[in-house]
Amino acid sequence: MRYTIADIREMKARKEKILMITAYDYATARLVEEAGMHMILVGDSLGMVVLGYESTIPVTMEEMIHHTRAVTRATKKCMVVGDMPFMTYTISIEDALRNAARFIQQGGCQSVKLEGGETVAETVRRIVNCGIPVCGHIGLTPQSVNQMGGYKIQGKTPEAAARLLNDAVCLEQAGAFAVVLECVPSELAALISRRIAIPTIGIGAGLDCDGQVQVVSDVLGFYELAPKHAKKYADLAGVIKKAVADYAAEVRAGTFPTAKQSYSMDARLLEGL
Ligand code: KIV
Repeated sequence: MRYTIADIREMKARKEKILMITAYDYATARLVEEAGMHMILVGDSLGMVVLGYESTIPVTMEEMIHHTRAVTRATKKCMVVGDMPFMTYTISIEDALRNAARFIQQGGCQSVKLEGGETVAETVRRIVNCGIPVCGHIGLTPQSVNQMGGYKIQGKTPEAAARLLNDAVCLEQAGAFAVVLECVPSELAALISRRIAIPTIGIGAGLDCDGQVQVVSDVLGFYELAPKHAKKYADLAGVIKKAVADYAAEVRAGTFPTAKQSYSMDARLLEGL
């Protein structure tokens, strides 16, 4: 059985931390589920960490659905959250409903995430009313990078902090089951987490959120550079480069493959050829 939105809400009530990480493919999704994650976000960070785009803005519904299907095929227990790409939920409510439905029907995930607070609250309400759980996302919302003038910490002035608190309340009232707080001062994230009944899931938002989410390639150390809020728990870039260099060296030296990695046949069968 997969974790449900009720399970996620109860975790907040029990003060049990909600564990969420991104994944974009079958192999990684299997591993992060086995490692004990409750939720997997098929984030539109896919565009930057898997597809090599400069931002999340070029990511399409087709790309998201393709990767979401791989993640849902790999998992049995995690709740999979599909991240709605730039402009797929803002042009019209009808568009938002159609695209959210595609995530559930074609992607096979159990919920969707979209960026924004008060301005998307009505959209959230309409998607939730159609039976699709929605996770909000406020603070640093990467799809608005051009509007924000860069990837910057949000909510630092009293006015901006009040706006973020209001956004969180609007999302809760619209029926979101959780809200991601990205790059928000820890003190403000703690206050928001106390003020709303739905769980907050922090990324660069301090210890007092109800759960944490990280981008899997930051945690695994795929790239040299990672945001300040990320911690490298492994150096997979180093592990991969060494493994592939060792393979190359053995191929050049003629020591790979050995008999162990080869197939043989009876020499007599070759004689007649
Ligand atoms: O796309 C993503 O990976 C995200 C997380 C950073 C929350 O939205």
